[in-house]
Amino acid sequence: MFRIKSVLLCLLSLSILMITACDTGESQKQKLSMAQNLVPHDQKIAEIYQRTCRNCHTVLATGAPLVGDKSAWSELIAQSGTSGLVDNVINGKGGMPPFGLCMECDMDDFSKLIDFMAQQ
Ligand code: HEC
Repeated sequence: MFRIKSVLLCLLSLSILMITACDTGESQKQKLSMAQNLVPHDQKIAEIYQRTCRNCHTVLATGAPLVGDKSAWSELIAQSGTSGLVDNVINGKGGMPPFGLCMECDMDDFSKLIDFMAQQ
């Protein structure tokens, strides 16, 4: 009797684990489709974004924080502040090349791009 109970308990915890695993998969997918659908309102910023930042910040495999992932971005902003983040873009960080590949961008452009991606 004791054995059956522990086997059942084991199965139960396994299925709970599997459900939570599916949940994270689902919310990742939602975040991804949101990231891919967002476009900046400002015409100039939208043009820069489509040509540069978007190529990585809407692709999970790059490891870049996803556009519109508010929890990820608010953590980054709390850590470095927007101006610190602008510095990190200019210098490059991890898999992100210097200037996020936008060579003609100025500080103001970067800060607008970050505000947009963070959906602040
Ligand atoms: C080639 C891919 C790529 C492009 C293009 C790119 N990024 Fe990134 N970005 C990344 C990756 C990868 C990270 C995560 C870096 C890390 O934490 O190691 C990142 C991180 C960031 C961060 C957080 C930096 C920090 O302090 O952790 C900001 C801000 C950012 N990107 C802004 C931009 C902006 C603005 C653009 C467009 C001008 C851009 N990125 C273009 C790949 C890219």
